[in-house]
Amino acid sequence: MNIKIVSGSTRIGRNSHRVALALNRKINDLGFKSTIVDLSEIELPAFEERLSFLTEKPERLVEISSELLSSTAYIFVTPEYNGGISASLKNFIDTFGRLEFAGKPIAVASVSTGALGGIRAAMSLQQLILAIQAYSQPQMLTVGDVEEQLNSEGEIINPSFEKKIDSFVDSFLGFAKRFN
Ligand SMILES: Cc1cc2nc3c(=O)[nH]c(=O)nc-3n(C[C@H](O)[C@H](O)[C@H](O)COP(=O)(O)O)c2cc1C
Repeated sequence: MNIKIVSGSTRIGRNSHRVALALNRKINDLGFKSTIVDLSEIELPAFEERLSFLTEKPERLVEISSELLSSTAYIFVTPEYNGGISASLKNFIDTFGRLEFAGKPIAVASVSTGALGGIRAAMSLQQLILAIQAYSQPQMLTVGDVEEQLNSEGEIINPSFEKKIDSFVDSFLGFAKRFN
């Protein structure tokens, strides 16, 4: 399997990246190939047209597209902003779209400093995954009170969160294996 974890917050001082780091570390430690697609590094321009429809395709986006095409499973990590997913993640999904994602297993992790863990963003992201004709893992990871669960290096500081993330990773690997 070739797993990509899409880190969907580009905010200065973001917390969601902690979750992406933790997931990536755990999956690699279990012997699976996983890498982070960090949307703050890609610096995607605001959406103008799907990459596959552009006549002049930016070289960097073509490279990212080919990395995505070779991926066999994804975890999308999103912060909850005003009850929805981040604009950066929506921009990423719309720019690449079905070609890179259709038919693949995708799991959702949502992040919030509040108690509810970004559940509204997580549920709308599941709908979005269906719209790009991908398969949404039923179990989501909702990370509430994020700063109490992980430090800025993505190391887990709350033992009960460790159990929660391990259960999610276990479900994700089982789900993703069925497609590979
Ligand atoms: C523009 C904006 C809107 C937000 N809206 C919500 C929200 O609707 N629900 C929520 O639980 N937290 C909300 N938050 C707080 C985030 O949960 C918090 O920033 C968290 O750390 C995840 O985002 P981050 O990765 O950008 O840090 C919002 C934060 C920002 C910057």
